[in-house]
Amino acid sequence: MPRAALTDVLSAAQSGRRGVGAFNVIQVEHAEAIVAGAGAAGRPTVLQLSENAVRYHGALAAVGRAMLAVADAADVPVVVHLDHATGVELVEEALDLGFTSVMYDGSTLPVEENLATTRRVVERAHGLGASVEAEIGEIGGKDGVHAPGVRTRPEDAARFVQETGIDAVAVAVGSSHAMTERTARLDLDLITAIRDAVPVPLVLHGSSGVPDDHLREAVTAGMTKINISTHLNATFTRAVRDALAADPALVDPRTYLGAARTATAREVERLVRLLAD
Ligand code: G3H
Ligand code: ZN
Repeated sequence: MPRAALTDVLSAAQSGRRGVGAFNVIQVEHAEAIVAGAGAAGRPTVLQLSENAVRYHGALAAVGRAMLAVADAADVPVVVHLDHATGVELVEEALDLGFTSVMYDGSTLPVEENLATTRRVVERAHGLGASVEAEIGEIGGKDGVHAPGVRTRPEDAARFVQETGIDAVAVAVGSSHAMTERTARLDLDLITAIRDAVPVPLVLHGSSGVPDDHLREAVTAGMTKINISTHLNATFTRAVRDALAADPALVDPRTYLGAARTATAREVERLVRLLAD
């Protein structure tokens, strides 16, 4: 199945009041696990690669092409998305490579500059048939520089969407990036108020810190794209640690990476079902 468009996947989910799990990729095993998990659940998903992960690899092309190949071989719709890009050059590179969606993150810029750059990104992406997610208001905890407690005002989100033409909007509603405990409390009334004020699907960042039942409530309240990274990395790393501890003589990376891929696929399947069933 060819890679999917973000707008198609999110609008179908939004009209069915379902959530779509969007999971971060670091290595090819993550991409394989995410697609296997979504396939087992029979639901679409989003493979996303952050600017930080690109920095880790030193380049976009190798990991990006691997993601595209994994997505194209899937039997469910898979969006290939660039996550939290602060540089327009990286956005351009991802679009040229064939990513079907990009998140331009100008949330730390002065509002007018964020608006102007986001507009330029939208023009370029839409010209290539790709989608754009962007952020108004800061999601708490990103790189330790965003204070938790930040909230998006519905009227600001509405203006941002209208003035930029973006396809999905990331909003700050109580979650915080990179939490390892699932104790976050979201402002469900605010989610509904933003959903009622803006015409495009809403994106929840920092979803790892949100417990299962509360993720469901967030979808019911109006969230559609649910970004999960840290929680999956914890699942992956736990499986690697267990495999290495179980056999100190082990040398073949396929044994522990394979175990991690299997554990991650199972958790993705569980989360995708939780959000969409
Ligand atoms: O953009 C990606 C996410 O917002 C993931 O955040 O690592 O807290 O789940 P998380
Ligand atoms: Zn995020």
